[in-house]
Amino acid sequence: MENQKHFFNLPENIHYLNGAYMSPNLLTVEQAGIQGVKRKTNPTSIKEQDFFQPAEEVKSLFGKLINASSKQIALIPSASYGLMNAIRNVPVNKGQHAITVNEEFPSDHLTLRKFCEEHEAELRVIKPPRLILGRTQAWSEKIIESINADTAVVVMSSIHWMEGLKFDLKAIGEKCRATNTYFIVDGTQSVGALPMDVEAFKIDALICASYKWLLGPYSSGLAYYSEKFNNGEPIEFSWMTRKDSHDFSKLTTYPEKFASDEMRFNVGEFSNFIALPMLKAALEQIISWKPENIQTYCFELLKPLRDFLQEKEIEKDDDKLVSAHLYGLFVPASVDLNKLKEDFHAQNIHLSIRKNSLRISPHVYNDTKDVAALIEVLDKHL
Ligand SMILES: Cc1ncc(COP(=O)(O)O)c(C=O)c1O
Repeated sequence: MENQKHFFNLPENIHYLNGAYMSPNLLTVEQAGIQGVKRKTNPTSIKEQDFFQPAEEVKSLFGKLINASSKQIALIPSASYGLMNAIRNVPVNKGQHAITVNEEFPSDHLTLRKFCEEHEAELRVIKPPRLILGRTQAWSEKIIESINADTAVVVMSSIHWMEGLKFDLKAIGEKCRATNTYFIVDGTQSVGALPMDVEAFKIDALICASYKWLLGPYSSGLAYYSEKFNNGEPIEFSWMTRKDSHDFSKLTTYPEKFASDEMRFNVGEFSNFIALPMLKAALEQIISWKPENIQTYCFELLKPLRDFLQEKEIEKDDDKLVSAHLYGLFVPASVDLNKLKEDFHAQNIHLSIRKNSLRISPHVYNDTKDVAALIEVLDKHL
């Protein structure tokens, strides 16, 4: 895959290596948003079917990306919302516990903590091993070992959101299935840039905010809920999720039934006339590029960085186990992080610093100049 910067409108003078913070708009996404805003200028342009049809298209595109039927997909406004829909439908027996990983993203950790408080269940946080080389494999093994018949649920991100480690989702999913444990995955930091397969990984719920690797707008996201959730109770009781809601003459029959199983988990006003067309344009582009090609592009792009780190004897895990679109790098304690930040700022290099790790998150709009600029600054400090 060639560089795809021409699909975006990023300023020439910045090195944007921060897709994990927020993706820039694709030109098609920007246009879809502008058209969406303009539509309501004349509300007659919005027909009754527009409350439902565009959502179906978006669900179907997302289903293709994660290997799921569009029937099991819901539109959500944020990862925390989608997580809450899932967690409140997880059955738990007395004495059971829940599992997450160390330094998990707050939306995941806090949702699970609330679940544990409500059910008087223990929250077990699986710490990483001390090693750097072999870290991903050993951490996945610790997670797998900790899951047993008393584990009600595992909630974790598909890759570690700060370090980019690719957990062994397949093995974790298999252990969950074997122990009757619900497996809830936050895919916000990988879905769209790294292949995802809910069937192969035996995931029960997959929650994704859209403004990072799905290249969509803020305040919108997508969730997959497996058939286990088909009789679940949603957070909201919106008219739009009910049977016959598309027939506006029947609204005050107040049907108890949902339009379909997964419809129950859609957020109220899910047919957002600005955000949905943006999300659709973004998903179409990602599907045409393919996440595996995005991953290969980023991996090749970062080769000079990996060579540089090797030269500097900076320890890191096996390259194949760290995602290429979100590359975490521990900074030695001797480095003055404030000075490093100042230099990044001076050179217009945008990335995230989380605790003592740098989060370098490229995409197909980045080129070798961006990586060279990054290495030049790092060389001054390492
Ligand atoms: C792993 C992960 N999940 C979720 C989110 C966003 O959560 P929410 O949509 O609840 O704001 C982020 C944002 O950085 C994230 O890194």
